[in-house]
Amino acid sequence: MKGRAVYIKTFGCQMNEHDTERMLGILETKGFIEVEEPRKADIIIFNTCAIRHKAEQKFLSSLGRVKYLKKRNSQLKIVVAGCVAQLQGENLLNKAPYIDYIIGTDNIHMLDSIIENQTPHRVFTYENPDVTNIKIPTKRMHNVKAWVNIIYGCNNYCAYCVVPYSRGKERSRPVESILEEVKLLGELGFKEVTLLGQNVNSYRDGSVDFPALLEKVNEVKGIERIRFVTSHPKDLSKRLIQTMKDCEKVCEHIHLPLQAGSNKILKLMNRKYSYEEYFEKICWLREAIRNISITSDIIVGFPQEQDEDFEKTLDALREIQFDGIFAFKFSPRAQTPAAKLDGAIPENVKSRRLTEVLKLQDEITERKNKLLEGTIQEVLIEDREGEYSTGRTRTNKIVKVTSNIALGSMVDIKIVKAHRHSLEGEILQK
Ligand code: 5AD
Ligand code: SF4
Repeated sequence: MKGRAVYIKTFGCQMNEHDTERMLGILETKGFIEVEEPRKADIIIFNTCAIRHKAEQKFLSSLGRVKYLKKRNSQLKIVVAGCVAQLQGENLLNKAPYIDYIIGTDNIHMLDSIIENQTPHRVFTYENPDVTNIKIPTKRMHNVKAWVNIIYGCNNYCAYCVVPYSRGKERSRPVESILEEVKLLGELGFKEVTLLGQNVNSYRDGSVDFPALLEKVNEVKGIERIRFVTSHPKDLSKRLIQTMKDCEKVCEHIHLPLQAGSNKILKLMNRKYSYEEYFEKICWLREAIRNISITSDIIVGFPQEQDEDFEKTLDALREIQFDGIFAFKFSPRAQTPAAKLDGAIPENVKSRRLTEVLKLQDEITERKNKLLEGTIQEVLIEDREGEYSTGRTRTNKIVKVTSNIALGSMVDIKIVKAHRHSLEGEILQK
């Protein structure tokens, strides 16, 4: 059957966004088109995130808003995918019986049988050892840059984090399969790949570890830039830093979540490094790769975080001078050990700390961006909006130019003005 429509709403991280690309890939091969309004759809998919309470709430309210559509159209199918689906499974159906199917994080491929009405089951949350091998068509969101999964799940069990439960044990994808995908992307004209995983640094397929994988991806024709997310500080080795330096396509940027500046809190978080060890790695990175940009994640209000612990996070931000951070209030997640810790921090204290962290980092980011005024940066153009073209520097900073430049062009841009979250530039050459 042709001409059916899908509405899909994605919550959460890049992993989820990429899963959405894969679900749309499956649906496209079945003749579905994507629509922007749920009421026009034959199938509605929520690709959910469970990392914080707020993300889950957003999904639940979106779900509530489409309930009435089922009454208008009995053929409509509502599918819940992603992390909330994986964690709650059957329970979600009890709470909202109008959901038709639950697809967990390892079972995206089941969408195929669901649309073809080939399965009597409604809940697919089983752990799939084959997840790294299954080939799924992908409808890419961008034409210039693409995500490529290299490792699934997480074995780190940070005390606050639901991911090891929602995305299962760590499993690396075979190196041949990764290279096949990257080569195809290069042939199709993609210029940049981002290697994706909860902890890319622990990638391993036989003798190929993450630095060795980077070396292989660096050889792929057509691809001009390589990025990767996310790195765990405990697994960041000197060898990886040397590889980043030696591989000319690997960009000068790393996202390295610190989470907290106090060793007491890092220990409670089960992060497996001290602040001093983390800082030493920042020094290695900056010594080896001049101008590397470093971004991070920070959690405020973790249980037992006293004022003096929080001060250490602020001190860390002052000492490290990140290029940017994402900061979050601690959100207790039912499955995790941190949810059972004593010493919860009141909401108003969490909010105050978050404001303080963001204010300090905004000043740092702005000051660092100002240093770029007058410099010339290599920018990969990835978007166009009206008279603007936007792209990113190798250090992952967004640059806006008032010229119409072809998507996928690599251009030299002079930075004329720095803002807090973006740079304005003028084109020097095409
Ligand atoms: N509460 C708040 N932030 C969290 N993160 C992960 N779990 C939680 C939680 N329970 C943050 C971490 C992680 C980022 C992706 O989300 O900072 O690095
Ligand atoms: Fe969560 Fe820690 Fe794994 Fe990151 S490394 S996904 S924070 S458990």
